[in-house]
Amino acid sequence: MAVLCVNVDHVATLREARKIAEPDPITAALIAELAGAEGITIHLREDRRHIQERDLRLMRETVKTKLNLEMAATDEMVAFAQKYRPDMVTLVPEKREEVTTEGGLEVAGRVDAIRRVVDALQGDRIPVSLFIDPEPDQVEAARKTGASFIELHTGRYVGAKGDEARQRELEALVVQTRKARSMGLRVNAGHGLNYKNVVAVAAIEGVEELNIGHSIISYSVFVGIERAVREMVDLIAEARRI
Ligand code: PXP
Repeated sequence: MAVLCVNVDHVATLREARKIAEPDPITAALIAELAGAEGITIHLREDRRHIQERDLRLMRETVKTKLNLEMAATDEMVAFAQKYRPDMVTLVPEKREEVTTEGGLEVAGRVDAIRRVVDALQGDRIPVSLFIDPEPDQVEAARKTGASFIELHTGRYVGAKGDEARQRELEALVVQTRKARSMGLRVNAGHGLNYKNVVAVAAIEGVEELNIGHSIISYSVFVGIERAVREMVDLIAEARRI
């Protein structure tokens, strides 16, 4: 059943607004772990708009649960991953002008290119996850790359207008989770999940980790990171009882 991995990028976003030392995402990660997070996720972007190399280095030393590094499928980033050795790499698409990761990674049209990156990392014993849209051709292509995991992009479910559309998008997540698992892929999910929409996704049979950042860090501004993480952990645990 699903566990929570907290994305602390936005703590670094706030720090970078001033280009000074605080707030420190390292502290946020440690508190999140104390509050029950089972993993910490960071995205080292090419433009370094939030997480910096220093954060990756220090989190590698201090995170005691599981460190998941989101990154673009580039040679520069593969070298960083091999240097710092996170517990998992999640390959994501990256565009300079985007506010956050938009669609999933296009794997279907680029199996060979993605497979080269997967081989380099997994050959070096760093498991790889591919952040993809819940579509059959992307899941099939992910399997062909040899990646151990996929992370299903929950953005369409989160953004769906009305019960019918939301149910349709939830069903796409359920069906593609089942398909991926039947092929031997392990399945995570995330993007845009919050305290209202998380339970239905956490209840999907076969989803292992939920990567959640914006909603938790936003709520923590008012109630603190510990309580914000704890409430999310409790909601996810509640989904196991559905
Ligand atoms: N998963 C991936 C691959 C992401 O890129 C992000 C955003 O950095 C998230 C999950 C978390 O999304 P949110 O901040 O909307 O919870």
